[in-house]
Amino acid sequence: MSSPSFFPQDIIIKKRDGGALAKEEIEFFARGVVNGQFADYQATALLMAIFWRGMTAQEVAWLTDAMMRSGDVIDLRDLPGAKVDKHSTGGVGDKVSLILAPLAAACGVMVPMMSGRGLGHTGGTLDKLESIPGFRVMLDVPEFRAILQQVGMAMIGQTPKVVPADRKLYSLRDVTGTVECIPLICASIMSKKLAEGIDSLVLDVKFGKGAFMKKKDDALALARAMVAVGKAGGKPVRALLTAMNQPLGRCAGHTTEVIESIECLKGRGPADLMEVTYALTGHMLILGGAATDEADARAKMATAIANGSALQKFREMCVAQGGDPRVVDDYSLLPAAKQIRALAAPAGASGFVSAVDALKCGHAIMALGGGRAAVTDKVDHAVGLSDLIKIGERVEPGTRLCTLHANDEAKAARAEELIRAAITLSPEPPAPESLIQDLVA
Ligand code: URA
Repeated sequence: MSSPSFFPQDIIIKKRDGGALAKEEIEFFARGVVNGQFADYQATALLMAIFWRGMTAQEVAWLTDAMMRSGDVIDLRDLPGAKVDKHSTGGVGDKVSLILAPLAAACGVMVPMMSGRGLGHTGGTLDKLESIPGFRVMLDVPEFRAILQQVGMAMIGQTPKVVPADRKLYSLRDVTGTVECIPLICASIMSKKLAEGIDSLVLDVKFGKGAFMKKKDDALALARAMVAVGKAGGKPVRALLTAMNQPLGRCAGHTTEVIESIECLKGRGPADLMEVTYALTGHMLILGGAATDEADARAKMATAIANGSALQKFREMCVAQGGDPRVVDDYSLLPAAKQIRALAAPAGASGFVSAVDALKCGHAIMALGGGRAAVTDKVDHAVGLSDLIKIGERVEPGTRLCTLHANDEAKAARAEELIRAAITLSPEPPAPESLIQDLVA
């Protein structure tokens, strides 16, 4: 049966005037941006109309499904067990995936993870993994499947054939002021996740200074939209809303975050990072049938850390993906910066840390050369921050605020300025903020 044909301008006019698009019109759009029946200028006009007029929950579900089917959809049904992934909307110091994936796999859930690269002030999982010598993230689907079967987890970049409609639409949105639109963000993220062949998904929707969504209400609306799309597609999705006002953990960058992740797998992780990791992994175990409830999940995760099986999964993943597993026991095998220097509080400093602005810290990473202003930029894996002070900690003259890892004096000076500006002191300890603020299921 030949699919119905439409004129792009009719679809644009319908949305411009506030109408709800039909399933066939949305499918024509998602197909048309890939095969050229929807010209770039027409696609951007429709994106802007969607930006202003919004979409119903049904339209978002149809758009997600049509985008997902614009390319290859990976079928993992023949592999045994539940396949569960996690997606984070991104932040600074967010290395949760590196800990969560081996931890979930060690607890019996298969994790087929396709991640992204860092852009702007937010870091990306693929860049972090590539600081491990030899580690390959661009694998084809047969190799991805083979590693999943062998190790129970794999962490790779999106293959070019997965959701080509999103690649096209995201590049148009990026240059036409249509990125910040909840229906479009929802369809973009969910189409890519659902194309991975997962059975269920856990989302970490971040809000705050260092997040994509600054306001909690926007993050909540996005979380609800993504959970609804999952339900419409028959895949259980749970979303946690987590605060991203200060960096997660004490390290930001690439090598520094890999080291911190390995430390977490050795049972020596900072409290805030472990809190988010345990919460997200716990929901994965429950969705994947590997734990009956949160208490059971906690017990299983604690065992996997204590008996070394989660760390062993990380090693196995390194071997399977070409990385040097010896980094787990010898951090000197990772790229090191030329200058490693402590940044101390000045004379006269006194009080408690009331803010460590995650956005400024992200800009400091970029200033050091560890970030990306454009997708084609190369990142320096060696640079970054470690030992970063946390909100609530006491500061006196000489207290270490962080350790800077730099390869260039001028860049280090700019990063130092940004870190100093990121840290605010107050005479009294600030009221503690809960990191995990909501669950949408
Ligand atoms: N991340 C995505 O993958 N897509 C968006 O639209 C926004 C953030």
